[in-house]
Amino acid sequence: MADHAAKFPAMFTPRLRLRQFEPKDDIGLYACLGNQDLVRYWDFAPCKNIQEARGWVRTLSKTTQPYSAIAWAVADITTDKCIGMVNYHHREAYRRKLEIGYILQAEHHGQGLMTEAVRMVMSHCIEQLKTRRIEAIIHPDNAPSIRLAKRLGFEFEGGPLRDYWRVGDRFMSPVVYSFIAS
Ligand SMILES: CC(C)(COP(=O)(O)OP(=O)(O)OC[C@H]1O[C@@H](n2cnc3c(N)ncnc32)[C@H](O)[C@@H]1OP(=O)(O)O)[C@@H](O)C(=O)NCCC(=O)NCCS
Repeated sequence: MADHAAKFPAMFTPRLRLRQFEPKDDIGLYACLGNQDLVRYWDFAPCKNIQEARGWVRTLSKTTQPYSAIAWAVADITTDKCIGMVNYHHREAYRRKLEIGYILQAEHHGQGLMTEAVRMVMSHCIEQLKTRRIEAIIHPDNAPSIRLAKRLGFEFEGGPLRDYWRVGDRFMSPVVYSFIAS
């Protein structure tokens, strides 16, 4: 327990390093959260400038305890440049459930990188945190995200959850996919 709180669970995949966010990741994260197209189906408004992205880097780097949320910077294994983010949040340890999120810079799409990253985070959640239920709450028009979730074994469970996300002055109604670790 104390170990988890003290030590960030950095992990490697064949092509990626999943590590704690650092100040140098502002540009990489801004390329994700500042890209209007990319965050079309995201549950927060796009970052308007690099300062906002820096604020997110600070917030995401603080989530080092395993109970409710952790965010990993997804970094290229050779350059250590941040190209995306994967996280879990809304963890309820007693119920052995949590929700995951992920975003990848557009220029790195179509290579299986985020599938690799999310698979690793799922393994961590299942093996280290003893999570049973993993939720992915996805906008029904977010086809790449739905394909990713299905590729990893998530199944459609229900929805839409009406006006579940508030993004600025709009509300969005996502659907629920879930994975049950047996
Ligand atoms: C969701 C998101 C990460 C998916 O990106 P992606 O590049 O499609 O996902 P991956 O990196 O896992 O790559 C998978 C794709 O690469 C292909 N691919 C190529 N080489 C591959 C390999 N070696 N291994 C696996 N897949 C490979 C797959 O076939 C797949 O393409 P397809 O979906 O057209 O069949 C991306 O669209 C994104 O960042 N969206 C914005 C943020 C967002 O909406 N997040 C979800 C919120 S719910």
